[in-house]
Amino acid sequence: AVVVGRRVKSRRKWRKVVNVLRELEEGCDTPVGRLKQVVDAMAVEMHAGLASEGGSKLKMLLTFVDNLPNGTERGTYYALHLGGTNFRVLRVHLNGQRSSVLEHDVERQPIPEHLMTSTSEELFDFIASSLKEFIAKEGDGSNISTNRRELGFTFSFPVKQMSVSSGILIKWTKGFSVVNMVGRDVAACLQEALARKGLDVHVAALVNDTVGTLALGHYHDPDTVAAIIIGTGTNACYLERIDAIIKCQGLLTASGRMVVNMEWGNFWSSHLPRTSYDIDLDAESPNPNDQGFEKMISGMYLGDIVRRVILRMSMESDMFELISPKLKIPFILRTPLMAAMHEDNSPDLREVARILKEVFEIPEVPMKARKIVVKVCDVVTRRAARLAAAGIVGILKKIGRDGSGGITGGRGRSNTKMRRTVVAIEGGLYSSYSLFSEYLHEALNEILGEEIAKHVIIKVTEDGSGIGTALLAASYSS
Ligand code: GLC
Repeated sequence: AVVVGRRVKSRRKWRKVVNVLRELEEGCDTPVGRLKQVVDAMAVEMHAGLASEGGSKLKMLLTFVDNLPNGTERGTYYALHLGGTNFRVLRVHLNGQRSSVLEHDVERQPIPEHLMTSTSEELFDFIASSLKEFIAKEGDGSNISTNRRELGFTFSFPVKQMSVSSGILIKWTKGFSVVNMVGRDVAACLQEALARKGLDVHVAALVNDTVGTLALGHYHDPDTVAAIIIGTGTNACYLERIDAIIKCQGLLTASGRMVVNMEWGNFWSSHLPRTSYDIDLDAESPNPNDQGFEKMISGMYLGDIVRRVILRMSMESDMFELISPKLKIPFILRTPLMAAMHEDNSPDLREVARILKEVFEIPEVPMKARKIVVKVCDVVTRRAARLAAAGIVGILKKIGRDGSGGITGGRGRSNTKMRRTVVAIEGGLYSSYSLFSEYLHEALNEILGEEIAKHVIIKVTEDGSGIGTALLAASYSS
């Protein structure tokens, strides 16, 4: 009787776990019909955000970048990149001829965590010191204080730009919350810190990471019209016709175009598949009611959604035979480890067990539980990738490159040709997580249809957010 009782109990336990999983699957469901609604909502919000200041949750920020690098740039330029997982300093040498490999040096370091919530002086002094050390290592006899250098600053947060080289921080995202920064000119803060360190460096461009990525993408391939970041956070920018940016009527640019930083991380629509885990994550985050799209897609959050689901599973049934207190610690499961569990191909899911032990101190994970954890990762990542794909198609729709109706060059569908359209992409989720990129492409095919999707090329750039910014510093320094 004892054995039978145990079996019944065990069956009940797994039924509970499977119910939580089913509920999650339903909540995260993204059939193509729903994705198309997200596409439409994205295009509608883009219009609204361009029509008036505050017209949409999509800020559609002006960048004052009206010309993208074309390969004729010359000289040595620097870039600093703040806002991803790593802080970077770069130097780029340009010889006036577009080359497939740009000669550059880069130094990365994790941002010391205390700086994310420090004072602006501390943060900018750290940035300026890093640049000073980087330059000091050049060792070519160049004098730090007499040779003026031109620099682009990649600042991956929402900024209201006054010009291509100045702009004020609108709000922090991705867990940063340095005091007294919102409302201040970010480029001026950096310029002052550089002066404090005795560096003769001029901040020639203040650029969002998406814009840097677009600049590098366009440098290599002039058919590039948009850029996406899916890393710690997520965002997109694209080239817009100036007459479509209604909110800045009267503004003229020589090219008739301007790059718009969408800040799509803050996109919201009732069509987004939202679960109780998303609601809790948002409520407990430092920026509730903000960055809703980002919280479903980007690297800062995916691991934590998974943690929340497995915490619930282990509370409802003793799936791991104990409830580890570590399961209750927010953000303890980083997305790269989640990806490693998801992509564990070993027959006994050894890696899954190892990571659960390492992160949550769960000593022995039954095989059934390992499989369920993999499934949870799959559901969460698949939704993220598919929503990102819908976002991309939303942009294509807005600019008439989604193949619906406005195909260029002909009358009927039969004799028309969809133009080659390149979207530059950067960030660990796409470039280092193959199931994520697979799901993203699958969804693009489903939404656009394979015929149209063939003309949409997603191209990974590397360090584009930094190198592209150095290119922009070159374009805008004189
Ligand atoms: C966040 C920032 C945005 C940035 C993105 C990717 O969404 O607000 O400016 O582009 O992260 O780093």
